[in-house]
Amino acid sequence: MFRRLRQINHTESLCDNSRHSLRALNVKKAPLNVVILAAGKGTRMHSGLPKVLHAIGGKPMLGHVLERATALRADRTIVVYGYGGKAIPSAFGNAAVEFVRQEPQLGTGHAVQQALPDLLPGGSTLVLYGDVPLTRDSTLKDLMSKPGLRVLTATLSNPAGYGRIVRDRAGRIKCIVEEKDASAREKAIGEINSGILYAPTDMLQQWLAQLNNHNAQKEYYLTDVVRLAIASKTEVGSTIPADEWEILGVNSKEQLAYLERVHQLQNARSLMARGATLADPWRFDLRGELDCGADVFIDVNCVFEGKVRLANEVKVGPGCVLKNVEIGAGSEIAPYCHLNGVVVGANCQIGPYARMRPGTRLADDVHVGNFVETKGTDIGNKSKANHLSYLGDTTIGSGVNIGAGTIVCNYDGVNKHRTVIGDDAFIGSDTQLVAPVTIGHGATIGAGSTITKDAPADSLTLSRAKQISIPGWKRPVKKPEK
Ligand code: UD1
Ligand code: CA
Repeated sequence: MFRRLRQINHTESLCDNSRHSLRALNVKKAPLNVVILAAGKGTRMHSGLPKVLHAIGGKPMLGHVLERATALRADRTIVVYGYGGKAIPSAFGNAAVEFVRQEPQLGTGHAVQQALPDLLPGGSTLVLYGDVPLTRDSTLKDLMSKPGLRVLTATLSNPAGYGRIVRDRAGRIKCIVEEKDASAREKAIGEINSGILYAPTDMLQQWLAQLNNHNAQKEYYLTDVVRLAIASKTEVGSTIPADEWEILGVNSKEQLAYLERVHQLQNARSLMARGATLADPWRFDLRGELDCGADVFIDVNCVFEGKVRLANEVKVGPGCVLKNVEIGAGSEIAPYCHLNGVVVGANCQIGPYARMRPGTRLADDVHVGNFVETKGTDIGNKSKANHLSYLGDTTIGSGVNIGAGTIVCNYDGVNKHRTVIGDDAFIGSDTQLVAPVTIGHGATIGAGSTITKDAPADSLTLSRAKQISIPGWKRPVKKPEK
């Protein structure tokens, strides 16, 4: 342990030294540009939404690709958009990104040409596709680790539709041939072009200026830079990703759904690697960030959105939806609960079928049972609301029992008001608490009461008509039909 610590300190100081010396020498890193192609319509999506705005794991595909640029510390990121007009720039208005419009869309080479005036010179440029969302950082780093023109390729059992990588006898890349331009022999090649490419910016600029559209599709092909690179004696190399899905793009809803499952399985695997138990990693959906303590159990078909934190030994039953939630150690969420904007303490029992809305905060050992809705409500230690209630804008002390069917009437039709319930109060079943109202500590409210005025501590308060019985009373009889 001690040795490891020392090693870490040693490397840290090395890093610090090198950073200092870089600063002292005023050495600047060559700038990295990332150009993301996102102008295509995505006809086969059959959608009014530009393709790259369709989500994987709750985040637009383009958002995933932008994260790659951030992870690679791009000095400039340029998104080439076209179809859908302003929809793409406005979806990412806050990101540190530049948008250039490509109109009309004359091919991938033409798309990168639109970004040329904005590239930082002197360094390198990585071209990514907005509809290829799941490439690993490590794969891109590997691609970028060698000089020259670099293309990301893969060997597919069904290469149909992709550009093929043509190599010479020595295995050197000669060119990329598009499917529509390929001969039968070239079509038999299994190695395909992912479209992702890395090049020295100044060279890329020169090659792009020489592109033409003399091909089957009358497009300016980015892939033609390979021939131009070879002609200008630039080395052309390739990298293969660890997993095939890293280079898969989305052209249809079916492919979107496929990559969604791939992405979710990766999420599930990373959670399991950190110790969480998932009943079924194939039935798990994360659309945000999930942080789990030790021995967390997640049953099937749960959806996690926003920021969710589950402390040690939390159990989440099947079919729960948790959004922006913190759950304390040992708490259990029974099946089919919906929690949004909620903080739950330790050892609480929630559900089944509880609905907890924003501003709900539970202390420890609280029970919230079936068909209970809460909103803007604090519930103290060991309090219980086990059945069929609405608790809105309420402050509930500790040791309180909320009877079945209790409704807090927090809304007078215009304004919302607060209700306060003191420690150890007992609210009888089917009670309405008309806010604003305060129930004293230790107070008991008789079942079926409509409480409109404050109820004193340690007393029984009830507001219901006295029970009477009418002897000999007859039920009405049905009038004979005419
Ligand atoms: C391209 C490659 C092909 C590769 C395949 C991988 C070329 C000439 N071909 O083919 O070798 O196997 O990707 O999927 O590069 N785009 C624009 N503007 C345009 C055209 C395309 O921004 O004018 C964008 C699209 O939105 C998309 C990407 O570029 O994100 C790829 O376009 P797509 O039409 O799918 O390229 P392919 O012809 O399939
Ligand atoms: Ca494509």
